[in-house]
Amino acid sequence: MHVVVLMGGWSAEREVSLMSGKGIVAALESLGHRVTAIDMDRDVAAKLAAAKPDVVFNALHGTPGEDGSVQGMLELMGLKYTHSGLVTSVIAIDKVLTKNALVPHGIPMPGGRIVKSAEVFEGDPLKRPYVLKPVNEGSSVGVAIVTDDGNYGNPIGRDVAGPWQDFEELLAEPYVRGRELTTAILGGKALGVTELKPKSGWYDYDAKYTDGMTEHVFPAQIPDHIAEACKRIALEAHRLLGCRGASRSDFRWDDERGEDGLFLLEVNTQPGMTPLSLVPEQAKHLGISYPELVQMIVDEALA
Ligand code: DAL
Ligand code: MG
Repeated sequence: MHVVVLMGGWSAEREVSLMSGKGIVAALESLGHRVTAIDMDRDVAAKLAAAKPDVVFNALHGTPGEDGSVQGMLELMGLKYTHSGLVTSVIAIDKVLTKNALVPHGIPMPGGRIVKSAEVFEGDPLKRPYVLKPVNEGSSVGVAIVTDDGNYGNPIGRDVAGPWQDFEELLAEPYVRGRELTTAILGGKALGVTELKPKSGWYDYDAKYTDGMTEHVFPAQIPDHIAEACKRIALEAHRLLGCRGASRSDFRWDDERGEDGLFLLEVNTQPGMTPLSLVPEQAKHLGISYPELVQMIVDEALA
């Protein structure tokens, strides 16, 4: 089979996508597939038309790539591609549209409101502690947690791409104290729950992609009913949004409030496939190797 791996691009998560793509290319080659890697640029449609792949592995993260734009192009070109389709991608990349789609169905998510970035310089838009985040970025790019005693992730002068002050609007959400949990969906099933324990600070871009900065505990050492709730909510969110292939739902759990303290933050429709990423890690714990995971995602695209 001839597979194009679409990666890179120009989102704030370009480097993450290149890491994901590198692993996926190696896995597909190890499985005996013919692979063409394309670093997405504005000529990507011409390159895809020339390559004529059987399927496109979309290894892009963020905007554009995870947001429906690339999915729309692939639909128009009549190419099969991995992960979620156009409409699901448009909704899931946008944290406000996601809430609007899921909360009416009883999925617990933090409240919050959209604020102009300029407002944030003038004063707190919500009672502290709260989180400021771009509506449609990933990997915690541009996120700041404003605590009672100061800021986590100094919002001014962050050195990762897409500093938050470049965004005209931000989502301000109440900060959920407690623990960071995540659940992957693959093959229509929840794989399990991982707890992320950063060695210092919070699970920001550096803690996500620097080896040794975060302890990953699988299965998370949490009560069974909380783990079951994560799996149930992740599966329900995946279904309600119409996700395909792999997705990953990220949670905060306030462990002083029992199940009432569990909140879904977002659904990632193009979850990371880097060496430190969580979907491959959960799959591995369940005996699914990285190449097997890649093949399963391809198979769902072709089904
Ligand atoms: N946005 C990154 C790639 C993730 O969700 O894993
Ligand atoms: Mg994300």
